[in-house]
Parts: sequence; structure tokens; C-alpha cells
Amino acid sequence: MTLTRQESLFPNMQDAVVAHPKPVNVASIPQRSPFRYPGGKTWFVPVFRNWFAQKPIKPVILVEPFAGGGIISLTALFENLVQRAVMVELDEDIAAVWQAVVDGQAEWLAWRIQSFDLTRETLLEELSRENGEIREKAFHTILRNRTSHGGILAGGSGLLKHGENGKGIRSRWYPQTLAKRFSGIDEVAGRIDFRQEDGLKVMQEYADRSDVVFFIDPPYTAGGKKAGKRLYRHSEIDHERLFEICESVAGDFLMTYDNAEEVKQMARRHSFQMRLIPMTNTHNATMEELVIGKDLSWMDSYPAVHEPEVVYGGGH
Ligand SMILES: C[S@@+](CC[C@H](N)C(=O)[O-])C[C@H]1O[C@@H](n2cnc3c(N)ncnc32)[C@H](O)[C@@H]1O
Repeated sequence: MTLTRQESLFPNMQDAVVAHPKPVNVASIPQRSPFRYPGGKTWFVPVFRNWFAQKPIKPVILVEPFAGGGIISLTALFENLVQRAVMVELDEDIAAVWQAVVDGQAEWLAWRIQSFDLTRETLLEELSRENGEIREKAFHTILRNRTSHGGILAGGSGLLKHGENGKGIRSRWYPQTLAKRFSGIDEVAGRIDFRQEDGLKVMQEYADRSDVVFFIDPPYTAGGKKAGKRLYRHSEIDHERLFEICESVAGDFLMTYDNAEEVKQMARRHSFQMRLIPMTNTHNATMEELVIGKDLSWMDSYPAVHEPEVVYGGGH
């Protein structure tokens, strides 16, 4: 995550601060996730904090049905925005990391990362070994996430050849930093409920509770199914069903999507509010991310945030 990307979220910080009781320095969002994750939501952290700041009653539990790299749940726990986080992720490699953390293996992972001498040879040798332990699978996931193009774990993404500064596979391997992140995560591990299940199903379990909030970042890309498949092993969900569940939940939710016509139409059909928020993607192109919720009026004092137009009929 570059500084440019974070700064570009609020081109005029003075305005952004007005909406919030405490000034938020978006350039210093703590990087707490051990993952480099495609579609990672670190840039969204200030918006997420503001969502909580305007809530009259503090929610008790955060449910994150598509957790991925988990930055939002981790932030909510570290900053004591909630007591507990329910993190849900189907991908078995990512699940191994969160499961290992919950099982008390975060310090072991920190040690394993620091003691590993990464070369192309040691990497290939390590990845070819399997002893069936969750913590070892977790270590392999982190290794692959840090040595493959774009951090992509779905099949077909090759290992970094040149990487940054000609440093090859080591260019994204920061053992001290990663170890520190795991040690940090260990402090909140006892407040995480991790589930390797369908996020929609887990949402339904918490649907009746008004003290629960949901942060929903489903697999979706405007590039269509093909692009989604390149990023995630599990990229197909029933979007209409997800909207139906959102309509049924007693607690509040915040959902982020690509700005696509079919999504906006679904949001309208379910009478949700929408706002477009500017962000800069990994290729430094400025895009707008769609935020969907029950009441998003708290976002209106942000600069450059606006309600999208929805085109009906003949859309593709
Ligand atoms: C857009 S990513 C989430 C990124 C995350 N917000 C972050 O900051 O790293 C969507 C995630 O949902 C996972 N996923 C896909 N289908 C799922 C399902 N039915 N239940 C749970 N997780 C699922 C994918 O594996 C992927 O990690």
C-alpha cells in the first residue's frame, strides 16, 4: 500500500476531518494484516472507523463474511471498536492462517518466518513438504502470498522473478515486519471466532442480533467472472441472495462492491443507500468503489463522495 493511494482517498483532508470527532490521519493506517491481498481494504479503514464513530450504541460483534486478509476485523479488534470479530473465509490456504492464529500459533508463525532463509531453492523445497499441520500450511500460505505475483493465491499465478529492485522472490519478504504483525495479532487472537464456511450462511446465524454489525466485501469485479477467478479460488456467490440476507439482518451493515450497473440495480431493488467513494487501485488508476448500506448519510461530508446514477433497462 503506497502513501499515494492512501492520500488520494481524501484529496482534501481538512474536509474529511470535519465529519469525525477526532482527526484521522489516513497516511498512517496501521498495516496489521500479514497478507498482501488482492482487493485488500486497508484504504477503507478510515471510512470504517467513521462508520463506528457516528453510531449511538457500540456494537458488540463484527461479522466479516468474506474476510480475506482480514484488515477490517483486525482494525476493529485492535481499536476496541467491538468485543469480538467473526471472520469467515472459504479459501483453505487463507483459512489455515486464521485458524492457526486462533489455535494460538501466531508466535510460532512469527518465529518460523524469522528463522526461514528465503531463496528460490529453499522456497521450492519448503513448499514441496507437507506434514498435515495447520500451522505449517499457514506458513506455506504466507510464503506463497509473499512470493507470487500480486499476492494471488488462486492457481496459475507464478513466483516473482524480478520483483522490486531486482530482488526477485525476496522483494516482498519482510520477515521482521511479518513476525511483528503475527505477534501483534496474537494479542487479539482470543477475540476472533474463525469459520471456514460459507459467509452467507454465517451471516444468517447472526441475522436476528441487533448488537452485531457486518462488514461485507464479497468477491466481485467489474471485469466479470473471469477476472474474479484470477484473483480468488472462490469467486462465485449468489449476489441476489446476499442482498436478501442484508435486508433481513437486524444489525447494521456496510458493503463494498465494484461500481457495476447490475450491483446498483440490486441495491435499489432492496432500497439500500449507495455512495461512490474514490480510491486508487494497484495500477494507480483512480476508480470509484461502491459503498452500500442502510443509512449512509454520515458519508455525505466527505469530499468527492456522491450518490451514483442507476441506468435502468437495456443494461448489460
Ligand atoms: C474481496 S475479497 C475480501 C478482501 C478483504 N476485505 C481484505 O481486505 O483482504 C473476497 C474474499 O471472499 C472469499 N470468499 C469467496 N466466496 C466466499 C464464501 N461463499 N464464503 C466465504 N468467503 C468467500 C474469497 O476467497 C476472498 O478471499
